[in-house]
Amino acid sequence: MPYNLLKGKKGLIFGALDESSIAWKVAMRCHEEGAALTLSNAPIALRMGKINELATAVNAEVVPADATSAEDLKKLFQRTMEIHGGSIDFVLHSIGMSPNVRKNKPYTDLNYDFYMKTLDISAASLHKIVQTAYQLDALNEWSSIVALTYMAAQRVFPNYNDMADAKALLESVARSWGYHYGIKKNVRVNTVSQSPTYTTAGSGVAGFDIFYNYAQAMSPLGNASADECADYCVTLFSDLTRKVTMQNLFHDGGYSLTGVSEKVMELFKEKGSPT
Ligand SMILES: NC(=O)c1ccc[n+]([C@@H]2O[C@H](COP(=O)([O-])OP(=O)(O)OC[C@H]3O[C@@H](n4cnc5c(N)ncnc54)[C@H](O)[C@@H]3O)[C@@H](O)[C@H]2O)c1
Repeated sequence: MPYNLLKGKKGLIFGALDESSIAWKVAMRCHEEGAALTLSNAPIALRMGKINELATAVNAEVVPADATSAEDLKKLFQRTMEIHGGSIDFVLHSIGMSPNVRKNKPYTDLNYDFYMKTLDISAASLHKIVQTAYQLDALNEWSSIVALTYMAAQRVFPNYNDMADAKALLESVARSWGYHYGIKKNVRVNTVSQSPTYTTAGSGVAGFDIFYNYAQAMSPLGNASADECADYCVTLFSDLTRKVTMQNLFHDGGYSLTGVSEKVMELFKEKGSPT
């Protein structure tokens, strides 16, 4: 049900590839809540994905940008401001990719060129996006920036590989920008740490089904879906959360603070074991 939470606001959404993408769901919900949007993704994703279908559905222009390229990002923000007739109110960073994960290189045998790409695409891109906005003065007072992350930044999930390092860096970049942009213009910056979700990036992690099911069995409320993540992002872009900043916000049905659940304990019950 729409609440008009983003009426009159303008936003830039990175990372919608197809209808399973979390960014796709966020764009749909922001549109429902009254926001005017610009969409962006890497040029290759524009050719291979379905972002133009989303653009039609939410009445937005798609502006290609490789999020690792400062030059592309500058052009993107300039175009975004042209489209909206001035500065905007929110940005979603929903970007992740690891060539090591794609090529099945384990954490114990990383290719370091790939490693640098992982960090650049999945984490440094947030720095570049925010720095571009900051230097072009592209965001209004009390704007909100959200980046999506995963709990592998805090705890080890072996198959998450070098993406864990990227997420730790991403969360740190968000905190640091939360300070600097807060001081300059009351702009808030947060990360949302989302449950495992079936998407192109998510399903690329080896054993994804297993850790999806494990998280489902551990979380008192069950895994959070992409649609529920979109709802949460809408609240963070709205004026209802203006003093929430520099936080890593778990959106995971309680998984992150559950030591063990009864469902998981059942799996380890052995007949005759000492109590
Ligand atoms: N799916 C999950 O289980 C899960 C859980 C927690 C957090 N996340 C995070 O959510 C975010 C979105 O991922 P998703 O699961 O929706 O998958 P997705 O594959 O739909 O989205 C990833 C996006 O990153 C874009 N991208 C890759 N390289 C880029 C570049 N150089 N420039 C610009 N864009 C680029 C892709 O084109 C794609 O649109 C990622 O940061 C991911 O790590 C996902």
